[in-house]
Order: sequence, then structure tokens, then C-alpha cells
Amino acid sequence: MSVHKEVKRITTHILQEMKNRGEKIAMLTAYDFSMAAIVDEAGTDIILVGDSASNVMAGHETTLPITLDQMIYHASSVVRAAKRALVIVDLPFGSYQGNSKEALNSAIRIMKESGAHGVKMEGGVEIAESVTRILTAGIPVMGHLGLTPQSIYKFGTYTVRAKQEAEAQKLREDALKLQELGCFSIVLEKIPALLAKQVSESLSIPTIGIGAGQHCDGQVLVIHDMLGINKGFSPRFLRKYADLHQVMNDAIQNYVTDVKAKTFPNEKEEY
Ligand code: KIV
Repeated sequence: MSVHKEVKRITTHILQEMKNRGEKIAMLTAYDFSMAAIVDEAGTDIILVGDSASNVMAGHETTLPITLDQMIYHASSVVRAAKRALVIVDLPFGSYQGNSKEALNSAIRIMKESGAHGVKMEGGVEIAESVTRILTAGIPVMGHLGLTPQSIYKFGTYTVRAKQEAEAQKLREDALKLQELGCFSIVLEKIPALLAKQVSESLSIPTIGIGAGQHCDGQVLVIHDMLGINKGFSPRFLRKYADLHQVMNDAIQNYVTDVKAKTFPNEKEEY
């Protein structure tokens, strides 16, 4: 007899309940089946198929080059692995800024072709029409304010955003607008902790922070960064939970040594 245990999928409704009772939300990125299976099994609430895939998977300097087709490929691999986590996919640069009809088509393609559970979009009031149109189709939308990497060439640097009052005030207004439109959550990236606290307290929907301090309702990190796979990326906000670069390098060096020394495979490892 097989004992099949049903796993309850995290929903946007459950995330809202978590905020209501003060339970923090854990989100991580993943871009492929094997990594997503580990991230899911470890209890992560939301898996973000981030357009950071452009950096960590494809080696681009920015998130701009990744295409909608490539995001769908990554997302469908993640969806096949995620049994419990809610899977959210970034709408890539150029797939939603043009007009709201194009934005809806992009979101529909992601939902239909990958099986994901929602999309994330960078920006505030300027993308309101697209957000509304996507929400009207029944697709959950996560907002993203603060450091928005798709606008890197507008700002020129990846430094902390909204340190000046005018930018902080715009961010507060954008957050309220996204909530009013119906977003289920908002990512706050690289902004002062005090501002993130104010925004998190002013919203009824959950905020998910990255470099935005401890008062957000949840946290997100890029999986390659927190596992220490990327050697050269060490911003202040990043806590490295492993040094997989070293672990993998040691393992691969051992393999190369064994092959060269003709000790792999041995008799027990052959047919
Ligand atoms: O693309 C991404 O990984 C993200 C997170 C950093 C929030 O947007």
C-alpha cells in the first residue's frame, strides 16, 4: 500500500493570513527543476523565477536581455518541481512596459505555458494600467519597488534607493497604489529599513524585502547568492548560508584528479 501524503499548496490567501498573524514569509529564487525541488522541499513559501536568471543562469550583466520565451522555459522547469511553494514569475523587460494589452498577453503566456501561479512586475503608478488589466484576467500580481533592476540604465547604479524624501514619498504612494489595484504582495528592494517598516505597516498586503531590513513581512534572496555559488557578489544585505562555490570546486577537482589518476571508475563502479 502506498501512503501518499497530499501537500497543501501555498496560495496568495495563505500569504495574507501569514501577514495577519505575524508569520514571516520565506521566498527564494530558482530557475531549474533540480534546484527548485530542493528549495520547495526545504519549506520555502514562494519560489520566484526571477529575471535574475539573466545574470546567474545566462551570465548577462543586467536583467534586460532575458526574453519571455526564456522566462517561460525556466518557469515551466520550476513548476514541475514545486509541490508546495507558490511559483511567481518575473515579467521580463520589454514584455509589459509598452502597453497593457501586450502586458496581458505576456502574463497569459506565462500562466498558460509554464503553469506558474502569478507574475511579478517592476514599477508603480506608471504600470497601473497593465497591472489592472492582468489582475482583471484573474492573474495574481506581485509588485516590485525600490531598486528595480530593469531600470538600471535610468539610475546608473545598484545603490540603495529612496534615501531622499521625494523618492521615499513616491515609493509610499506607489505601494499604496499597487495595493489599491489589487496586488497580493510587493517586493521592496534595497531601501532604508525605516522606510520599509513604514511601508510594511501602512499596507495590509505582505511586503517581501531584499536589502530592506527586518520589518518586511517576508524576505527574498537569489538562491545562487545565498548558497555562495557566486563568488564575487557580497553586498551588505546578503547572508551566505553556504560556500557552495568552494564545495563544488573541491568536488570537481577531486573528480578531475581521480579521472587523470585512473582511479575513477573502479571495479565496483563498472558493469
Ligand atoms: O529577479 C529577481 O531575482 C528578483 C529578486 C531579487 C527580488 O527580482
